[in-house]
Amino acid sequence: MQKPLRILHFSDIHIASDVRQMRWHKWFSKRALGALNLAAGRAKYFSDTEKKLDALLRFKELNSIDITINTGDYTALGLKEELQRAKELVAPFMIPPHNYVTVPGNHDIYVHRDKSHSLFVDYFASVLQSDLPEYCSDGYWPLVRLVGDHTAVIALNSARANLTPWRSDGKIPPKELEAFLKILKDKRVDGRFIFVVLHYAPRLANGHNDKKLHSLRNVEAFLHACQSIESGAILCGHIHHAYRVHAEGIKSEIFCAGSATMERREGGWVYELTGKQLKAYPLKWDGENYSLASN
Ligand SMILES: [Fe+2]
Ligand SMILES: [Fe+2]
Repeated sequence: MQKPLRILHFSDIHIASDVRQMRWHKWFSKRALGALNLAAGRAKYFSDTEKKLDALLRFKELNSIDITINTGDYTALGLKEELQRAKELVAPFMIPPHNYVTVPGNHDIYVHRDKSHSLFVDYFASVLQSDLPEYCSDGYWPLVRLVGDHTAVIALNSARANLTPWRSDGKIPPKELEAFLKILKDKRVDGRFIFVVLHYAPRLANGHNDKKLHSLRNVEAFLHACQSIESGAILCGHIHHAYRVHAEGIKSEIFCAGSATMERREGGWVYELTGKQLKAYPLKWDGENYSLASN
């Protein structure tokens, strides 16, 4: 009997710098407000991140995981120190690089798109190689991995910098969406089971759209593009609760990984794909270890 393909999906680990040690020149504009906000309440929910990532790595090694997918928000503020630390902590998941697929979250490109975006790319370049590079509209995305003969992973970059602190919305650039549509029709991809990977959640757990200032702005265009996928799943993060939900008219179910490290919200998914049959198991955290909850 054919061995199922096993995929680990985790997200939103939010590695934070110690804001008390940040140099004064970083304390301005959105970053300052974000840092203050973080210092005020958020950081304490992510205090055991390293312990939880160690446990997740043990889980990965004990559970014959073939592919690991991370849907972004590695950091709190997109700072160089945070990206560097995040890369160090997830590096063991990236072996071999071809079996690790990722996208940045909005927190990873927090302030200035060009500079911060290239910072993310600097740290994660080793896992940003596409099997169909001719479709990359901005150098890296859409990123395609062809897995065996029957599965493909297509990652879209939906994160962008927002210059005002009350906005954390994103958008898939129109050129990237056009390229995505072409990829879905490509003979090398068409007919495979397709995992679509992005940071923003196309639907909340209750099936509704996210609040405008926290959402994917062109979510309907994205879902329209996904309508042609016969067999697939849409994998996201951004919302710090793990859940699965259907969107009307879309055959691919949506899976949000939540946060692997946020206190009392720890979660993620393992997918088992046999042919075109997908089974999904939520991850459970018991304070020391991750394990599989029953389906
Ligand atoms: Fe997040
Ligand atoms: Fe996010």
